[in-house]
Amino acid sequence: MAKLWEGLASGEINRAAESFNASISFDKRLIFEDIEGSIAHVQMLGKQGIIEEAEAKEIASALLSIKEDLVSGALAVDETAEDVHTFVEQTLTERLGALGKKLHTARSRNDQVALDMKLFARKTAEETIGLLLSLVSALTDKAEEYKGAVMSGYTHLQRAQPITFGHHLCCYAFQFLRDVGRLKDAKKRLNLSPIGCAALAGTTYPTDRRFEASLLGFDGITENSLDGVSDRDYLVELLAAFSLISVHLSRLSEELVLWSSWEFKYIELSQDFTTGSSIMPQKKNPDLAELTRGKTGRVVGSLVAMLTMLKSLPLAYNKDMQEDKEIFFDAADTVKACLTIMTPMIASMKARTDKMLQAAKEGFINATDLADYLTKKGVPFREAYKITGAIVKTAAAENKTLEDLSLEEYKAFNALFEKDLYEAIALETCVNKRTSEGGTAVSEVEKQIAILRERVKNV
Ligand code: ARG
Repeated sequence: MAKLWEGLASGEINRAAESFNASISFDKRLIFEDIEGSIAHVQMLGKQGIIEEAEAKEIASALLSIKEDLVSGALAVDETAEDVHTFVEQTLTERLGALGKKLHTARSRNDQVALDMKLFARKTAEETIGLLLSLVSALTDKAEEYKGAVMSGYTHLQRAQPITFGHHLCCYAFQFLRDVGRLKDAKKRLNLSPIGCAALAGTTYPTDRRFEASLLGFDGITENSLDGVSDRDYLVELLAAFSLISVHLSRLSEELVLWSSWEFKYIELSQDFTTGSSIMPQKKNPDLAELTRGKTGRVVGSLVAMLTMLKSLPLAYNKDMQEDKEIFFDAADTVKACLTIMTPMIASMKARTDKMLQAAKEGFINATDLADYLTKKGVPFREAYKITGAIVKTAAAENKTLEDLSLEEYKAFNALFEKDLYEAIALETCVNKRTSEGGTAVSEVEKQIAILRERVKNV
């Protein structure tokens, strides 16, 4: 295809340079945004009398037919075009002749590409929010199912205090809900239309930027034309949100990998999300969780790549910015794919509550409650902590749990021990006494579940 700027270039165009410069191989993904933007633009041109109303209608319907032909497969993107904007405009001109050439009045590829990316980014943010909400719901449903399943909570990956599996899952649901908030917030800031900024300085035509913006569902327009064409902050914000989503996904994935190992066996992942080994018949590998964990690097890398591309760019448009697309597309595709996989993986996961309880019984995770028992009887906490430490040491040396020690043995450490201590250190008691807001007691987890459901409903 002929270059838009042909006639200015001198001599043979080197093919390698041409392909290095071209973006059609990846920005063709913006074709529907480009057409949507062009239709709005031509409507504005007609309304303002910059071109005839009848001409505007004809151009708009030709653009629609290009869209339809792309959808039906009657038209394919010509990859010899420099970029998607060139392809759409040249196809239009092939169909309409000279009239097609009027479309680009009062705009530049600089505001056009900024518009296309904003439309694409907005749609991506919305899709990602939808996927996050499904994951939050899947986690919440699982939390409900296992709200009474006692397991050990960990710090430093050492058994710490008893919690429930439901409580643990709610924690992830809250993380992903915050990610929804970040995307919604970024969407608010990005939803200002750059179209009409033209190349950088605005235009001499009597355009109506606000009309065009409203046709495209924007809340308003960018208030400085240089800013409109050179701003890519919204991509950085979304990539930062994607990075955090990936980090959350990778923390969850890591736990799925650990929990499905023989060392833990807290969960069984559905066969659909595991693979076998080519030589070890007993293997059930959590590949999808591992891949999700592994893809985090790509997404976080995208954020760094985008920031580094933007760093030190003078105003306004620079070709460096063409790099924003592959970076953003890859991160968006990756995050959406990971979320799409994680939701059914969680929904189909089964907990081995027997294994969880067994492990919870073995780690002295009710030691804090034993110390609290003495504290409630008037022993200062530091003192109670020391006594409990000595009891744990004795029990461990005898290969016993705290429940296994007799009342006489307890009394030898402190006379205040009575037989109600066994009730106080029962794992169920430890869990259900933690009724502080946000705590692990079933009654509190039920409240968390209700909060999560309510928030998902009201997004
Ligand atoms: N393909 C270009 C990009 O993605 C479109 C904008 C071209 N503008 C220009 N002044 N060369 O950034």
